[in-house]
Amino acid sequence: MANQDIGNDVIMTRVEDFEEYRQINLALADLVQKMDDSSPMKKLLDHVCSSGGKKIRPLILMLSTEVCDGEKNKAIDAALAIELIHSASLIHDDLLDGGILRRGIPSVHEKYGIAAALLCGDFLISKAITLISPYGHDAVQEFGSAGMHMAEGETIDIRSMNEEFRLKHYFDCINKKTASLFASSAAIGAYIAGCSKDDALRFHAFGENVGIAYQIVDDLLEFLEELEDKKSTQESVTLPQIYSRALGREQAVQRTIAEVHRYVGFAKALLSSFKSCAAREKLLLITDHITIDLLPSRV
Ligand code: FPP
Ligand code: MG
Repeated sequence: MANQDIGNDVIMTRVEDFEEYRQINLALADLVQKMDDSSPMKKLLDHVCSSGGKKIRPLILMLSTEVCDGEKNKAIDAALAIELIHSASLIHDDLLDGGILRRGIPSVHEKYGIAAALLCGDFLISKAITLISPYGHDAVQEFGSAGMHMAEGETIDIRSMNEEFRLKHYFDCINKKTASLFASSAAIGAYIAGCSKDDALRFHAFGENVGIAYQIVDDLLEFLEELEDKKSTQESVTLPQIYSRALGREQAVQRTIAEVHRYVGFAKALLSSFKSCAAREKLLLITDHITIDLLPSRV
C-alpha cells in the first residue's frame, strides 16, 4: 500500500486505513454491543451498523476537528451522532423510494418490515440527539438544521417524478437532502475544536460542495446503471436526465462530469485555505475518493 509524506506525518492513502475510520467503527460496534440483549432494537441496529458503509460524514467531522487543532477523541460521540442520523435517513429513504437493497444487503424494511424500519429510524435519531447534545449550542443547531434540511430535500425528491423538475429544483433538492449533512459534519467538527465562526462557515461550505459533487456522482452512476450494491423500485430525477432533455446521452453525461469537477474544485479551494497538515490531506483524499475516483472511465 502506498503512503504519502506530509511534513513529519505519513498518512495512509486508503480511507479504510485511517485511524479515525477504525475509531468510528469500534465506537459503533461498542454502541450496539452495550445495548440490552432484551431490546428488540438491538438486532436492527446490528443489521444497520454491521452493513459496512464508508463512514464519510463522521470522518469529515473528526478530520475537520483535527485540521482546527482540536482533539479527535473528543469528537467521537459527535461523529457517531452524524453516522446514526445518516443511517436513519437511509432507512427512511428506503421506505420512501422502495429501496430493497442497501450496501449490498436487504434494506431494513425489506428484512424486518415497515413498522420496525420506521421505529428503528426514530430510535437512531433519538440516540443521535443524546450523543450530540453535550457539544453545545453551535453543534446542536447545526445538527438540527441538517435534519430539517434533509427532510425538506427528501420532500422535493419524492415529488420530482410528478412535477416539472428543472435544474434549480435538482440543486435545491440535493443541497438539502445530501449536502446539508456533509456541511454540518464539517462545521460541527470545526466547532468542537473551538474555532472561529468564520472558519466553521468555510468548513460548512467545504462540506456542502463535497456533498453536492457526491450526490451528482451517485445520480450519474444510477443513470448509467452502475450501482450494484443498492436497488430501489422508485426513481428520482437525476442531473444527466435533466441534461439529456436538450442534449444527446453522451453530451449529457460529459456535462454532468464537468459539474462534478466544478464542485470538487470549489471544495478543494476551500480546503486549501486551511493550514497544510495530515488531516487536511485526508480530507482531500476523501473528497476524491467519493467523487472523481468513482467517475466512469468510459461512457
Ligand atoms: C438518499 O437519496 C437519501 C438521502 C440523502 C436523504 C434522505 C433523507 C430523509 C429520508 C429525511 C430524513 C431526516 C432525518 C432527520 C433522519 P437517494 O435515494 O437519491 O440515494 P440512494 O441511492 O442512496 O437511495
Ligand atoms: Mg434511495
